[in-house]
Amino acid sequence: MDKPGGFGPSVGGSSPSGPELFRSTRNFVARFQKVRKKANEMKPGQIVDEFTVKKGGEKLRVVFRVPKAGDARAMVKMVNSVRDEAQYLGMWHHETVKSERKYLSARLQDLRKDRGVFLLVEVHGQLVGNSVIRPLERDSSKHIGTFGIMLKEEFTGIGIGTRLARKTLSLAKKETRFKLIQSNFVSKNKRSYRLHKKLGFKRYGKFPNSNRSKDGTYYDKIYVFKEIKKI
Ligand SMILES: CC(C)(COP(=O)(O)OP(=O)(O)OC[C@H]1O[C@@H](n2cnc3c(N)ncnc32)[C@H](O)[C@@H]1OP(=O)(O)O)[C@@H](O)C(=O)NCCC(=O)NCCS
Repeated sequence: MDKPGGFGPSVGGSSPSGPELFRSTRNFVARFQKVRKKANEMKPGQIVDEFTVKKGGEKLRVVFRVPKAGDARAMVKMVNSVRDEAQYLGMWHHETVKSERKYLSARLQDLRKDRGVFLLVEVHGQLVGNSVIRPLERDSSKHIGTFGIMLKEEFTGIGIGTRLARKTLSLAKKETRFKLIQSNFVSKNKRSYRLHKKLGFKRYGKFPNSNRSKDGTYYDKIYVFKEIKKI
């Protein structure tokens, strides 16, 4: 006997036929193509962009790639060093290999469920930054992703952040269910301000004195969003 929805001959009144069969076949093909495309573009370890950029007289070979399970050790080193040197990141506690493994596994799970983008940046094979779009937990906000980006100070100001953010947003548009992307930055963070503005984020609020830095100075936080798919 044929299983319901199988491709055997249509027996009785419940199997799809005519336009209904055409629709269900088309949906099946669309789903299959999406899974195939994802396997090509967002599988763990996959390189999504490669280019060279000039810094002083030197040419740097830059790679953006999707993380893979064994990356936690390199990630924890990079994340802790960015937290030590970045002035306006707002996070300075150190991660451990254990906490980073947990974070990495959660993000890889987001990727599998079309609910996230996560990219690492390598320069000459060394991990120097990352970008992420993570889901919100609230049931009513599943269409919103939260954007974050960081680079080691040595590699800032030469266009890598702009290219990384563009790639991250375009993957979010193609590969996730998100329609809105939210982000925020400290009002003093000029590079972050310019980056978000250039990418078309719109400001929706300011939270005065919401960030207290290590030296006790208070800074405002600017909240921005971008629509990546029509609502
Ligand atoms: C914010 C960050 C991702 C930007 O990436 P980046 O590679 O440094 O930025 P880019 O070189 O692509 O430049 C982005 C914009 O900032 C401007 N910019 C670069 N360096 C700057 C500086 N020192 N002061 C002011 N603007 C600067 C660029 O001119 C460009 O704007 P424009 O195209 O309108 O001229 C990166 O600097 C970073 O990781 N900083 C530390 C961590 C951090 O602050 N993360 C963001 C938290 S929200």
